[in-house]
Amino acid sequence: MARVLREGAFEGETHIVTGAGQGIGNAVATALAEHGAQVVLVDLDLGRLEEAQAEIAKVASVKPLVVAANVTSEDDVKKAVASALEATGAVNGVVNVAGITKDARIAKKSFDDFKAVMAVHVHGTFLFTREVAAQHWHPLFKANGNEPLSDGANRFIINFSSVSARNGNVGQIDYTAAKGAIESMTKTTAREFAGYRARVNAIAPGPVNTPMLAAVPEAGIQAMARSTLTGFVAEPSHMASMICVLADPKISGYVTGEVMQVNGGLYLD
Ligand SMILES: NC(=O)c1ccc[n+]([C@@H]2O[C@H](COP(=O)([O-])OP(=O)(O)OC[C@H]3O[C@@H](n4cnc5c(N)ncnc54)[C@H](O)[C@@H]3O)[C@@H](O)[C@H]2O)c1
Repeated sequence: MARVLREGAFEGETHIVTGAGQGIGNAVATALAEHGAQVVLVDLDLGRLEEAQAEIAKVASVKPLVVAANVTSEDDVKKAVASALEATGAVNGVVNVAGITKDARIAKKSFDDFKAVMAVHVHGTFLFTREVAAQHWHPLFKANGNEPLSDGANRFIINFSSVSARNGNVGQIDYTAAKGAIESMTKTTAREFAGYRARVNAIAPGPVNTPMLAAVPEAGIQAMARSTLTGFVAEPSHMASMICVLADPKISGYVTGEVMQVNGGLYLD
């Protein structure tokens, strides 16, 4: 992916990206690394992470770190944040991308599937958000006499919602509930993290060409493309560009608590 910001925009910064093994998370991590960030790639499978690490290293100035972790596991997330801090000394940003779907209409939806979808999106986003605060940003705030941080460091959280949070989607009672929760969590986190001078935002993508869409038949994909105003299904790079923009304090320094709609006009808020 071509650079969208100035060269070295994130030089000297550490960014954790969950779900970095494939799809949007992989594109996000690549884009942040291309702009100079030390990225920490988090996903379930170490083998896939190592492949991503090798690919991203080709365009990065700093070799990515990898941490195999299940975002629903409190212990895994604690360790992932601790190892990022141990390796780099600071975490500037977290992009909570990891996600799953288990589509079925309500009458046929198993409770286990419902809980699994909620856990990856809601628990995973909460745990990474809490851990970066608990292990790092809150101690900095306390050391600063409980005064807002004034060290000028870039700090951000970016969460992943979906257009379906506001528009609803058949078969996705769990997924849409989780994404709606993520939008609310983004606002609460923005309020709580103001003292850390961290900006907290979310993006709500429309359909994106990733393995998550693989289950949708070609006719369905074409229908999705037609229902946008842009006329096409997005590529992961469209989302990655928006993440770079939100992560960059020079561009988005006055943006916090927002959910950015990146849906090609499929839904107009
Ligand atoms: N693709 C779309 O059309 C679309 C649309 C709107 C929103 N989104 C959101 O964008 C994000 C990325 O989606 P994608 O399309 O790239 O999906 P994807 O399925 O291609 O990739 C998701 C990644 O998350 C990882 N993951 C899943 N569960 C995990 C867990 N418990 N712990 C750690 N990692 C885990 C997977 O291994 C995978 O690498 C998700 O939050 C999704 O809800 C996607």
